[in-house]
Amino acid sequence: MRYALLAPGKRIRPVLCMESARAIGADPALALDAGCALEMVHCFSLIHDDLPAIDNDDMRRGRPTVHVAFGEATAILAGDALFALAFEVMARCSDDPTLALAAVAELAVTSGTRGLVGGELMDIEAEGVQPSADLLQQIHHQKTAVLMGCSCVIGGILGGGKPPQVEALRRYGIALGLAFQVYDDILNVVGDPETLGKSAGSDAERGKMTFPAVYGLAESRKMAEDLRDQALIALRGLPGEATMLAQLAHFVVNRES
Ligand code: IPE
Ligand code: IPE
Ligand code: MG
Ligand code: MG
Repeated sequence: MRYALLAPGKRIRPVLCMESARAIGADPALALDAGCALEMVHCFSLIHDDLPAIDNDDMRRGRPTVHVAFGEATAILAGDALFALAFEVMARCSDDPTLALAAVAELAVTSGTRGLVGGELMDIEAEGVQPSADLLQQIHHQKTAVLMGCSCVIGGILGGGKPPQVEALRRYGIALGLAFQVYDDILNVVGDPETLGKSAGSDAERGKMTFPAVYGLAESRKMAEDLRDQALIALRGLPGEATMLAQLAHFVVNRES
């Protein structure tokens, strides 16, 4: 569990959570524990995503994947236990039990069939299938964007945001998350495995339904930039400092890993 969680990842979801609290005008430290819980869910999803039964990848964050390093049974169980630990940490993320409960409920809806796990199932069922724009959008929305939206929502809730402010943060996080996954697809085509810390070219090998496969690279880049702009628009009118969230929107479509 430590091997996966503490490996050098970008920590985007915790940063989204803490910076969303700041964008409401609150102290970002209020959202640190919640950010840790979100990173645990993310790392659980990476461990299971890399398993032979799913994407069968050998490298992650510049290291052998958990199943390569420790065996498949340990990898499955380490993922399960990280998922459970995430809920333990989220349940204690605030002194205010109403806020902690709201955060736990957000995380549960985000992780399950309507979110991440459902998205992962659609992703593998779509391998080798005739691409469809709607299905592609739905897969990316569920497997990646909802967790990023949820990270922003939880930061906004813990920061004391009003419902319209929290929903603006969700719109930002969903648009940013879609842009992020479109760009992840692009990096799988054009990226350098050394810099990425994970394999490249694997999506085409597995017949994955990706943005470059459906729209080509140039159009995919344009779509990612349009989504970045939607994310930036959603930030308008937030009461606190949203500079870092704006910078992150630019980063996700202009990165090498
Ligand atoms: C990788 O996420 C999986 C996707 C959702 C594309 P990240 O690119 O955020 O991975 P780390 O946390 O930096 O390793
Ligand atoms: C990312 O899946 C989403 C989750 C892990 C839930 P991908 O399979 O597209 O991402 P990488 O390329 O392995 O990081
Ligand atoms: Mg996958
Ligand atoms: Mg994968």
